[in-house]
Amino acid sequence: MKTFLTRRLPEMQRLAQADFSLDLWHGPEPPTYSELVAHTRGCDGILCLLTERIDADLLDAVGSQLKVVSQMAVGVDNIDLEACTARGVPVGHTPGVLTEATADLTLALMLTTARHLIEAAGDVKAGRWRTWDPLGWAGPDLFGSTVGIVGLGRIGAAVARRLQGFDVELLYHNPRSSRFAAEVGATLVDFDDLLARSDFVTLHNPYTPDTHHLIDADSLAQMKSSAILINAARGGVVDQDALMAALRDGQIAAAGLDVTTPEPLPSDHPLLTLPNVVVLPHIGSASFSARQNMAAIAIDNLLAGLNGERLPHCANPSVYHGFDH
Ligand code: GLV
Repeated sequence: MKTFLTRRLPEMQRLAQADFSLDLWHGPEPPTYSELVAHTRGCDGILCLLTERIDADLLDAVGSQLKVVSQMAVGVDNIDLEACTARGVPVGHTPGVLTEATADLTLALMLTTARHLIEAAGDVKAGRWRTWDPLGWAGPDLFGSTVGIVGLGRIGAAVARRLQGFDVELLYHNPRSSRFAAEVGATLVDFDDLLARSDFVTLHNPYTPDTHHLIDADSLAQMKSSAILINAARGGVVDQDALMAALRDGQIAAAGLDVTTPEPLPSDHPLLTLPNVVVLPHIGSASFSARQNMAAIAIDNLLAGLNGERLPHCANPSVYHGFDH
C-alpha cells in the first residue's frame, strides 16, 4: 500500500512502523496541483493539508484503489466531499482539538485590532513614542461591547465563553439555533440585526457555497461605522474587495483577519496598505498542543482508512451508507 504525505508532520514517526510505503513531500511549500497528481497516482492513502486541492479530476487520476483522504485541519473546503463520497472515499479531518487555540487567537485579534497593538508596538520600535498622549493609540472597548458571532459552533462557543469575562452582549446567527446558545448566553438574531447591532462581528462558520462572500458590500454597509470585523474562518467568507473599500471609506472601523484570499497574501497586496487592518498568516490553530493533536488525529484517520476501519473523525459520514468499509 502506498501513501502520499503532502508535508512533514509532528507524530510522523508513528507511520514509520506501519506496513506501507510512504512518499513524503519535502518542500516547505505545498506541491503544485500537477505535482500532487503525479505523487498521488496509484495511492491508497493521502494525508494532506488545507493548502491542497483535492477535486474529482485528482481523485480520478489517483485511481479507484484510494481508501482514504486524511486532512490535518477541521475545515475541508479544499476537498470535493461529494466527489469523495461518490467514489466511496472517506475524508478525515481534525475537529475539537483546535477549538481552544482558535478561540484564543480570535480574542487576540479582537484586542489587537481594537487597541492598535501592532501600530503602537511599531511606533515604539520606530522612535515615535514621544510622550503619554491623552488620546494616543486609543480604541474602542471590548469590555461591555456587543459581539455578533456568525456560526455558534464549537469554535464560536469557545469564543463566547471567553467573552463572558468581558461582560459583552452576545448575539449570534446560525442557520439553525445553536446547542451552545443557552450555555454561553447568546441570543439568536437575524443576520441583518446582528450586523446592525454588533461592535465586533466575528466569523466562525464553515466555508461552503452558501457562505461564499457572506460578508459583501451590502452586509458591510449595514455594519456600524465603529464596528470591527474579525475573520478566523476562511478568506472566501468575505468579499475582500468590498472589505477593502469599506475600510478605506470608513464604512467600518477596522478588520482583523487570520484568513485571506489568496493565501499566502502577497506582501504588495493593497489590503496591506490600509492602516486599519491586521492580517495574520492563518495561525488560528498554531499552538503547540493543537498542532500536535491535529497531526495525531490525522494519522489515526489515515491508519483507520488504510486498514478498512471507520475513520474516528470523518467529514463525509454518508460515505458509509451503502459502502462496506
Ligand atoms: C484551519 O483553518 C483548520 O480548518 O483546521
